Amino acid sequence: MRMYDLITKKKHGEVLTDEEIQYMIDGYVHGEIPDYQMSAMTMAIWFNGMNDHEITELTKVMAKSGDMIDLSAINGKKVDKHSTGGVGDKTTLIVAPIVAACGGKVAKMSGRGLGHTGGTVDKLEAIPGYRTVLSRQEFFDTVNQCGVSVIGQSGNLAPADKKLYALRDVTATVDSIPLIASSIMSKKLAAGSDCILLDVKTGSGAFMKTLDDSIKLAQTMVAIGEGAGRRTVALITDMDTPLGFGIGNSIEVMESMDVLKGHGPEDLTEVSLQLAANMLYLVGKGTPEECRRMAEKAIADGSAFETFCKMVRAQGGDDSVLRDYSKFPQAPYQAEICADRDGFIVKMNAEEIGETSVVLGAGRETKDSEIDFSAGLILHKKYGDAVKKGDCLVTLYTSKKDALQDAERMYREAICIGDAQPEKEPLVYARVEKDKVEKY
Ligand code: URA
Repeated sequence: MRMYDLITKKKHGEVLTDEEIQYMIDGYVHGEIPDYQMSAMTMAIWFNGMNDHEITELTKVMAKSGDMIDLSAINGKKVDKHSTGGVGDKTTLIVAPIVAACGGKVAKMSGRGLGHTGGTVDKLEAIPGYRTVLSRQEFFDTVNQCGVSVIGQSGNLAPADKKLYALRDVTATVDSIPLIASSIMSKKLAAGSDCILLDVKTGSGAFMKTLDDSIKLAQTMVAIGEGAGRRTVALITDMDTPLGFGIGNSIEVMESMDVLKGHGPEDLTEVSLQLAANMLYLVGKGTPEECRRMAEKAIADGSAFETFCKMVRAQGGDDSVLRDYSKFPQAPYQAEICADRDGFIVKMNAEEIGETSVVLGAGRETKDSEIDFSAGLILHKKYGDAVKKGDCLVTLYTSKKDALQDAERMYREAICIGDAQPEKEPLVYARVEKDKVEKY
């Protein structure tokens, strides 16, 4: 077999056989197929797609390229969650302890920020002392004790995805349904949970910009999960506007704790409750409505917050910062951006706001950049809000004084103040289950 012939086939829109997919991924992981040939293949897939059988086969081969984790040492049903990536998306920090407080088991391996989108592992590392690297046994023990553990992905979880993702990131081939679906689901299958809840983001800050594409991606991933014997549900949630008010690592930890203490932003609380309810539904705790009430109760009675603190302590973190936010390191430089006219916020481009947070230091400009945990933004006005000239729209936080000017310019370009109040967009657009799409 020759990679050249496989690229030619895909270039002409032909279907790759199981053996060809296996050859391509094995060869790439073992360094026998070079990056330039794999880049040509990912671009051919970007243009010509793959059929459902090819996507499922690609996912299986990618999952099996590394460790397939056996979670049977953890008692009870395990449920995983994955977001396709967003700005201000801190829902894992909220839903994982809610689900654990209600009796579900969450053994979660999370990723770092990518491009303009944040990553759960970076956020957790903003908590002083929190260890995102645990031995397999420590990971299992933490879930058995606390109901939840969130750690970074181990080096050998779907190594084919690790290599392919890095390549896609620099060859403009991230936003392809077959490539996103196989990337996400290979990691989820390898990570070993019984059930999977997918949060598929849609809108300007998401990889899928339209609702139709987001539903198609969700259906593809649900079919792969169910085909592999894992109960899988997807929610399509809004990412036109950042979720909540805070963007940046310690800022997002604080906002998540506000939700767990019962006084978080409305949009973030609502999306988190719907995600948590669906995770509880997947582990068999009741109907989605009953599960939602359970999730609300876990916030109201403080058990979800206490569960999060317990996990933080078990992983070496200082949970006192979660009760007294002034103990988080503070950014030395701050700036406020004010409205230059009266009106309504009619545009808020989540991707551009995510990029603004990267310039401030909250994300990585290159693979090796260090994150500044205290950097980021707090929005004071969101999409649809009325503003008066001089109102503060956002506060920027950074350790790099020079970044403030660029960040201000970028933020002003990311939003638009108009004359008429726009209609609010839904927070959750649809729910996808096996062979079923419910649009809201
Ligand atoms: N998240 C992933 O893990 N993979 C993708 O391809 C896109 C988002």
